[in-house]
Amino acid sequence: MENIILDCDPGIDDAIAIILALKSKNCKIKAITTVTGNTYSEVGTRNVIKLFYLLGIDWFAIERPPIAEGSKLPLSGRMNFAGSKQVHGLDGFGNTEDLFDEYKIPKKIQTEYDAMDLIDSTVSESEEPITLVTLGPLTNIARVIEKDPSIIRKLKKVIIMGGAIEVPGNVSPGAEFNIYTDPEAARTIFLSGLPILLVPLDVTKRYTLTKNDISEIIDVDSPVTNFINKALSYYMRITRIREGFEEDACFLHDALAMGIAIDERLRKTIKTKRYFVDVETKGLLSSGQTIADRRRVPEFKEYGATDICLDIDFPKFVKFLTRIILD
Ligand code: BDR
Ligand code: CA
Repeated sequence: MENIILDCDPGIDDAIAIILALKSKNCKIKAITTVTGNTYSEVGTRNVIKLFYLLGIDWFAIERPPIAEGSKLPLSGRMNFAGSKQVHGLDGFGNTEDLFDEYKIPKKIQTEYDAMDLIDSTVSESEEPITLVTLGPLTNIARVIEKDPSIIRKLKKVIIMGGAIEVPGNVSPGAEFNIYTDPEAARTIFLSGLPILLVPLDVTKRYTLTKNDISEIIDVDSPVTNFINKALSYYMRITRIREGFEEDACFLHDALAMGIAIDERLRKTIKTKRYFVDVETKGLLSSGQTIADRRRVPEFKEYGATDICLDIDFPKFVKFLTRIILD
């Protein structure tokens, strides 16, 4: 049983990851925090709550995972949403707002905790080891470390969806969105000594998901499957256009990272390499690029090196996704 804190910026692929985590019997979600990335943290927080309603999780139940809105802007104080609005739609969920009308969720939501405090206290007070899974820019985590560096040795593992090591970026020639959005925060994390498993574009863009892959899910008529169908249809269409594919298909970056976090059988199929990773924060063309030192790593540099996931058994992941969603 994995105990997980989930930091995210929902986001269509974040949504699939959150649904997996909330439905899986192999993990306990100790907290969900949001950060500005694909959408404003305020919109992302409301999106998490939408998924709670969709899954029938009582918002007023005491045992539901606590949610907290986090950083409204990257450490630089600057944010540009142009690309994200295209990729994830105006609502961050592929323009699916109508599916949530019946729940009458308030437009403005005040969460009960501060995200940085919630992450810090959840880790510090937990008797079991905690895995932190990050699916958005690393702003919140950098802020937690700044406030309480002791968290570095308390976390069992940090699984980060982000970066591009041996492949091109997706927002610039070298940079991936989550790292590009807050390179200073990402640099703090990679140099912190945290035990990181990175899930970069190298593995998440290696395989695409098509309608055919999720036909079993689409065939079922339920609030969750109808949302997945509508949101992924949007995401697959826009990905086809952006990537020049012949058919609608998408990448499931965040869901893949979550699968690795919660399913041991899936985790056993990944192929990793271990490099020391740093982040370019100043380059005119290369800001946000994750740079792995692929020269031979001398012993002393092992400290703080990052495990990088480069491949996975994707058909197994699709089976896992289908099983959990239809369960
Ligand atoms: C990452 O950026 C976002 O668009 C996705 O949600 C994912 O976390 C992929 O580059
Ligand atoms: Ca994301």
